Amino acid sequence: MQDHTEFLQEVLITEEELQVRIKELGEEISRDYEGKELMLACILRGGVMFLTDLMRAISVPHTIDFMAVSSYGAGARQSSGQVRITLDLKTSVEDMDLLLVEDIIDSGNTVASVLQLFETRNPNSLRVCTLLDKSERRETYVPIHYTGFTIPNKFVFGYGLDLDEYYRDLPFIGVVRPDKYIPPD
Ligand code: IMP
Ligand code: MG
Repeated sequence: MQDHTEFLQEVLITEEELQVRIKELGEEISRDYEGKELMLACILRGGVMFLTDLMRAISVPHTIDFMAVSSYGAGARQSSGQVRITLDLKTSVEDMDLLLVEDIIDSGNTVASVLQLFETRNPNSLRVCTLLDKSERRETYVPIHYTGFTIPNKFVFGYGLDLDEYYRDLPFIGVVRPDKYIPPD
């Protein structure tokens, strides 16, 4: 596999900008969830980097859990309206103050389906925290309570987001070179 620089057009959000914003989000969440039963639910795999930095920025007691989904009848980028749970949460969300942690909301289809599912499980409260919001591409409305950055309609990678599973480890968010990489779908 080539080095990531082969695919990098520009750095969109630097490591420092990410870390500053995540600290702010952590403080805001800590204020809002004081005295609550906060549980962070992370969608694998893209949300992992964000989750681990975010939880260190949250000062109130909380638990974490993970789930994985795949979309029906579409590739990794252009998701369909329906998602299939490939790995479910291990713990019950009943009576918990559930916060869904996502890397990016694009069409909104993934998170909209996951929210629908969670609502049937009777959490005490349910909110969404996304690092990136590609709002121009929204097809399905998603109520987002915490947003790191609203970004333009460009394919991005790094900090959890992959190009064919690689480069999730990069500490910044980069824009892909359109001449070097064709996003799925
Ligand atoms: P949705 O379209 O909101 O359902 O998002 C589906 C998934 O597409 C996200 O969870 C990401 O995994 C992926 N995705 C969307 N835009 C990008 C991008 O720019 N880079 C990498 N993955 C993306
Ligand atoms: Mg994803």
